[in-house]
This record gives sequence, structure tokens and C-alpha cells, in this order.
Amino acid sequence: MSVLKIINLHAEAEGKKILNGVDLTIREGETVALLGPNGHGKSTLFNVIMGHPRYTVTEGSVIFDDQDILSIPTDERSKLGIFLGMQSPSEIPGVINSDFLKAALNARREKPISTYNFYKLIDQTTKELKIPFDLATRSLNEGFSGGEKKRNEIFQMKILEPKIALLDEIDSGLDVDAMQVVADVIKKEQEKGRGFLIISHYARLYDLIKPTRTVVMINGRIVLDGGPEIFKRIDQTGYEFIKTELGIEIEKEQQEMNTISIGLCAVKKV
Ligand SMILES: Nc1ncnc2c1ncn2[C@@H]1O[C@H](COP(=O)(O)OP(=O)(O)OP(=O)(O)O)[C@@H](O)[C@H]1O
Ligand SMILES: [Mg+2]
Repeated sequence: MSVLKIINLHAEAEGKKILNGVDLTIREGETVALLGPNGHGKSTLFNVIMGHPRYTVTEGSVIFDDQDILSIPTDERSKLGIFLGMQSPSEIPGVINSDFLKAALNARREKPISTYNFYKLIDQTTKELKIPFDLATRSLNEGFSGGEKKRNEIFQMKILEPKIALLDEIDSGLDVDAMQVVADVIKKEQEKGRGFLIISHYARLYDLIKPTRTVVMINGRIVLDGGPEIFKRIDQTGYEFIKTELGIEIEKEQQEMNTISIGLCAVKKV
């Protein structure tokens, strides 16, 4: 069984400390819900696990199946079976969605998939996700609606069959029906034993997919680890109880309080 172990992980970007000692373990077959206020390091954690070059790890380790993955490149991490469904997927004009997927799929196979079998896989998966087939034949994410981008991330996950999938706000921008479709796909993948670490701000998706554990990240650290009562409580009352009951001060996002941006290159003092 695959296990992703994050141990005392510290990371920063542009001189700003974002992760301050994250400890978290996710096993294949588990679904872990990750919550936390805006700007507290959830997406950063995912980016660091995948090896985004903007982030520097200053301490700690990320172990996947007994291998320290921080020293290997992103594509190797992906080939080991870790997948990231991004919060804001980039548009890549000129790269055809299905070509990109086929290249990624073939990179982890000994023999390239045949055109016929790949077509069948795309046809079947687009039907299961209720997305138009032409999404596969267009440039990656270019001109996709918000909901299409999110479903395309799930589409990639289905094709690549990772052992552990990190899904970052996969529910944002999905209409009610699309949310149900995505939840049904996740449930099927859970039955196959896939492991999930899923960021969402809302209980709605979690109510559908029933996470096995809920963890909360505050100030770049996991401060709570428990059952569904945690995401239900946060959904109803917010994060105030973390301060009143656990005594943890919740840092506000660092903002330049005295300036407002009035365009791309001009700033006005107020
Ligand atoms: N590349 C970067 N350079 C500088 N600061 C960054 C960078 N990436 C993230 N940050 C900052 O680190 C903090 C954590 O960001 P992150 O995106 O991880 O938050 P989050 O918990 O995912 O928030 P949200 O719920 O809004 O998605 C924020 O203050 C953000 O501005
Ligand atoms: Mg985020």
C-alpha cells in the first residue's frame, strides 16, 4: 500500500515563510479533507509536494513509499503515482489536451498505448465525466469555462490513475450537477483504493464523498486531525473555535494595508 508522508515540512517563497512544520500522512485508500482559511498554505503544500520551482524547502521531508521525493524532479514524482489537480489550471495554447495526456500516459508505460485504445479511453472517460469529447481535442484549458477546467483536472486524474491524488478546490466553479458527477467519479476511485487529499472550503463536496479524516491547516501547520465533525463545524461556524478552544492565533493574510493598487505598475498611497 502506498503512503505519502510529510514530515516537519518548512517551505518559503520569495523570502516569505509559508509552511511552518507540516506533519501529515496519507495512505492509499484514505480520503483526507484539508481545510484552512485563505492564505494559510494549503495550495503551497500541494505545490511543494509536486516540486514547484517557486518554493524552497528549508526543512523536513516528503516520503512516498520509503523514497524521499524532494530530490527528484516533478515528472518523476508524477510517475511514482502522485497527481495534482490544480486550484487554477494554466491555459496552454497550442498544446492539444489529448496529445498532452497521451504523452503523460505513455511516459509511464513500457509500450505506448495504441491510437485505438487511447481513443476508446478518451471516449469512455469523457462520457463518464459528462464532458464534451471536443474538450479533449482543444488546446489545454484554453477558453475552457471554470467548471470545464476543473472537470478536465479530474479527466487527467482518471487517465493517469495515480495512487494518491491531491485535489485543490476541485469543487470551485462546478454547478450542482457537475459537482455530483465529480463526486461520483471520486467515489468510484475511492472504491478502487485510490488515496485522496482534497482541499475544499465547503462541506458540500465532503458530504458527498465522505472523507475518512479531516485535517485543518493554520499558519502553515496542521493543527487539527479528526473526523467529519470538523468540516461540518467549520462549515457552520467558521474558524473562530480554533482560537477560542485551541488557543491558536489565526494570522491574517499579510496585506499592505496602506497602499492600494491602481493598475499593473502604479501604486497610490492612501
Ligand atoms: N510563489 C509565491 N510567492 C510569494 N508568496 C506566495 C507564493 N505562493 C504563495 N504565496 C503566499 O503564501 C500564502 C499561502 O498561499 P496559498 O496559496 O498556499 O494559500 P491557500 O491556503 O491555498 O489559500 P486559499 O484558500 O485562498 O486558496 C499566501 O499569503 C500567498 O500569497
Ligand atoms: Mg489555495
